[in-house]
Amino acid sequence: MASERITRLEITVREMELDDLAPVYHLGERLFTCDLYPFLYRTWDEWEVVGHYNTDPEFSLVAEVDDVLGGFIIGTLISKASWTYGYIVWLGVDQAFQSTGVAHKLYDKLVERMVEAGARYLIADTDPSNTAALKFFTKKGFKGEREHVVLSLNLSRTERYRTILEKHGNGHGETEPRAKKSRRPKTATGKNQEKPFCSTTVLDSEP
Ligand SMILES: CC(C)(COP(=O)(O)OP(=O)(O)OC[C@H]1O[C@@H](n2cnc3c(N)ncnc32)[C@H](O)[C@@H]1OP(=O)(O)O)[C@@H](O)C(=O)NCCC(=O)NCCS
Repeated sequence: MASERITRLEITVREMELDDLAPVYHLGERLFTCDLYPFLYRTWDEWEVVGHYNTDPEFSLVAEVDDVLGGFIIGTLISKASWTYGYIVWLGVDQAFQSTGVAHKLYDKLVERMVEAGARYLIADTDPSNTAALKFFTKKGFKGEREHVVLSLNLSRTERYRTILEKHGNGHGETEPRAKKSRRPKTATGKNQEKPFCSTTVLDSEP
């Protein structure tokens, strides 16, 4: 059935453009959801799109399916010693077009570009429960998966945190942290910052 759809759909992969930034960001918001991908959702924000679009334009690609945004892939190169790694940072396909080969096309184009740029090794990471992604990357030949444990600590519940704040605070002995200016633009949740990320929600429900 998937192959039937592939023959009917025209999938074009091209470099991301300025006008794609918002649609890509919103597509990512729908895909990297709290319930399904707690770890991914935690790190997905508009800076992921804007930042890579600025620093890695040749590795920020979108797929158009019959002229509609069908998916995107965002990668970067990492050079360590004499090795150059191609890191697939984000890959997302609109649910309406999943299992029609969109990810294959995006991946193939990205890898072509990475190889041209000197990559000899590819890396990708995802949540262990993300069956679709694991199947996809396995099909592409990735192996040696190892689970990665993400630890977190709610500092505000530790004595050490309070001691440090009392010592330094905001310079007036106050126990509120100094607000530091971020290079990142405000997120969509903006003034709604009290709405926590997934992992924080888990922490907050702890006794
Ligand atoms: C993972 C993902 C990108 C695959 O996109 P896709 O366009 O459906 O994939 P393709 O059609 O190109 O590739 C299909 C292959 O991927 C796997 N796959 C895709 N969707 C799947 C699903 N829902 N369940 C199981 N396997 C799936 C299959 O192995 C499939 O093999 P096939 O070609 O024999 O059908 C897509 O499911 C997605 O966007 N998921 C949400 C975001 C995400 O988790 N991204 C990865 C981490 S950044």
